[in-house]
Amino acid sequence: MNLKDMYIEFFESKGHKRIPSAPVVPENDASVLFNTAGMQPLIPYLMGQPHPYGTRLCDYQKCIRTNDLDAIGDTYHHTFFEMLGNWSLGDYFKKEAITWSFEFVTKYLNIPLERFAVTVFAGNDLIPEDKEAIELWKSLGIKEDRIAKTVEDNFWIAGESGPCGPDTEMFYWRSNDPVPDKFDPEDNRWVEIWNNVFMQFNKKVDGTIEELPKKNVDTGMGVERVTSILEGVNDNYMSSIWKDVIELIEELSPYTYSERPESMRIIADHIRTSVFIIADPAGIRPSNTDQGYILRRLIRRMIRHAKKLDIDINSNFEELLANKIIDKYAKYYSELSNKDIIIEVLKNEKVKFSRTLEKGLREFEKVSDKDIDGVTAFHLFDTYGFPLELTEELANEKGIKVDVDGFNKKFKEHQELSRTASAGKFKGGLAGNSEIETRYHTATHLLNAALKKVIGPTVHQMGSNITDERMRFDFSCDHKLTDEEKAKAEEIVNNWIKEGLNVTVEEMSKEDAINSGAECMFIEKYPDRVTVYSIGNDEVVSKELCGGPHVKNTSEIGEFHIIKEEASSAGVRRIKAVIK
Ligand code: ALA
Repeated sequence: MNLKDMYIEFFESKGHKRIPSAPVVPENDASVLFNTAGMQPLIPYLMGQPHPYGTRLCDYQKCIRTNDLDAIGDTYHHTFFEMLGNWSLGDYFKKEAITWSFEFVTKYLNIPLERFAVTVFAGNDLIPEDKEAIELWKSLGIKEDRIAKTVEDNFWIAGESGPCGPDTEMFYWRSNDPVPDKFDPEDNRWVEIWNNVFMQFNKKVDGTIEELPKKNVDTGMGVERVTSILEGVNDNYMSSIWKDVIELIEELSPYTYSERPESMRIIADHIRTSVFIIADPAGIRPSNTDQGYILRRLIRRMIRHAKKLDIDINSNFEELLANKIIDKYAKYYSELSNKDIIIEVLKNEKVKFSRTLEKGLREFEKVSDKDIDGVTAFHLFDTYGFPLELTEELANEKGIKVDVDGFNKKFKEHQELSRTASAGKFKGGLAGNSEIETRYHTATHLLNAALKKVIGPTVHQMGSNITDERMRFDFSCDHKLTDEEKAKAEEIVNNWIKEGLNVTVEEMSKEDAINSGAECMFIEKYPDRVTVYSIGNDEVVSKELCGGPHVKNTSEIGEFHIIKEEASSAGVRRIKAVIK
C-alpha cells in the first residue's frame, strides 16, 4: 500500500477523521503566499476554534516552499511536497502521540529499531527539558544513546509568531555504513522522517509567549523523503514518485539522467509545482507579482532547462509532462480534473517566453563579458521576459554578478510609471461614465457575487466590458452553465436589487483590503492604496477592490437579465446581460 493511504488508514484506526487537503494558496491567511506546512490551514483550530470534524484529525497536505529555489537540482529538495499529519486539538497529548508514532514507524513502515533515533527538547529559561517525552521513548525501548537533546531544533514554530511548542523528531539511518551506537543529529546520514510538535503555546507578534487554551499535537511527515527511504533509494528522484517523470524527460532529451541530473530534477520538480499552482482554486496565473510571479519563474526556469537538455521546446513537451503528473495525482486531488486549463496556461506561458528566450539568451551572451548592472538586468526582464532570478542563475553559471539593488530600483521606477499611466486611463474611461454605465458597473459586482453563490468560490472575474447597452462579464468556470444556474444567478442579482442594498466605499492599504477578504481581479494592477466597494445592508453580499464609480443603492440598477452565456476561452465563460 502506498504511504499516504497507509498513514490515513492507521490514524483513522486511532479515531482520527481525515480532512481534505486545503488549497496551496491559503484561503484566509495573506501573510504567506503558499501553505508551507500541514498545520498552516489549521491555525484557527490550533488557537482554540472548534473544528467541524472534531478533535482528532489527519490528512495529507499540499505544501509549497519556494524560499530556496536555488537548492532545487539536488537529490532531496522540492518546491512542492506533501506532508502527512495527525492532530489532536485539545484531545490526546504526548503519550498517545509518541506511542502511535512509534507503532506506525516500527510496525507499518517496518523501520528496524537499530536504524531509529529521536531528538527531544533540551529546555531553556522558559520551558523545561521534555522529561515526559524522554521517559516515553525509553519505555518504548529506545536506548538513551539514541535520544539526543537540542534547544533550537526541538522547538517548532511556522515563521515568527503563532502556535508553537517543543517537539520530538524521529530519525532514520539512511546510509549503508554501519549504524553508530550513539545518535548524532548533526551527522547527515541520519535523516529526519517525522516531527511531533507539542503545541501548547502561542508566540505573539511582540515576542511574548502565552499558553494556548488547549494542548494540541501537530505532526508532519514528508511523503517524498519517507517514500524514498522505504524504497531504499538515496535520491528522491529515483523513487516511485518521480522515476517515470525522469524517464519521460530522458525520452524527450538526447541526454540520460546520469549525464544531466540537475536539469532533469529542476524540470520534474517545477512542472509538478506549476501544475498544482495552476489547478488551485485560487486561480493563480503567471504574472509579475506574488504567487503569479513564482509560477512564472517556475515555468520559465523549467523551459530554460528543457532547452539546456536539447528538448524541442516547440513540441508539446510541457503537456506530456503535465499529463504524467496529473495522472499520478488525480486520484488524490480532484482539482486536477481541470486538465485543459492547466495545459493551456502552461502552453501560453511557454509560447510567450519562447518567443523571446532565444533572443534574450543571445543578448545575455553579449552583455555578460562583465558583471550585469541593474539597467541591463531590467532590460532582460522587460524586453525578453527574463525573471531576475533567471538572469542571476545564468550569471552564476558564468561566474559573474548581477546588481540586484539596481534592478529593483529600475523595477520600482517602471511600476510608478505604469501606475500613473493606468490611473490616467482610468479617469478617461470609467470616470467619464454615463449614468447607465455606472448602473451596469454595480451590476457586474452583484453578478460576480451571485455566481460565487451558485457555482462556488472558485469563480473569479476574468474581465468585463460595459457599454450603455449591455454588460459583458468573463469569469473562471469549467463548465457551461445550466439553465438552472443561470436562472438562479439572475434571481439572486434581482433580489439584491429589490432589497435596495447600500453601496459604500472605503479607502485602505492594498494589504488590508486583501486581508479583509475583498475580491480583486489582478492584484498587481492596483496601487498600494485602494478603494474597496461593499454592497449590503446588514450582511455584506459583495466586497471588491475597484476604482468605481458605482450607484449609491442597488435599487437604482433596474431589472437585470442574462441574455447569453458562452465560452470565452478555456476555463473562462462569458455572460452578456442587460438592465432595463
Ligand atoms: N508543523 C510541524 C512541521 O512542519 C509538524 O514540522
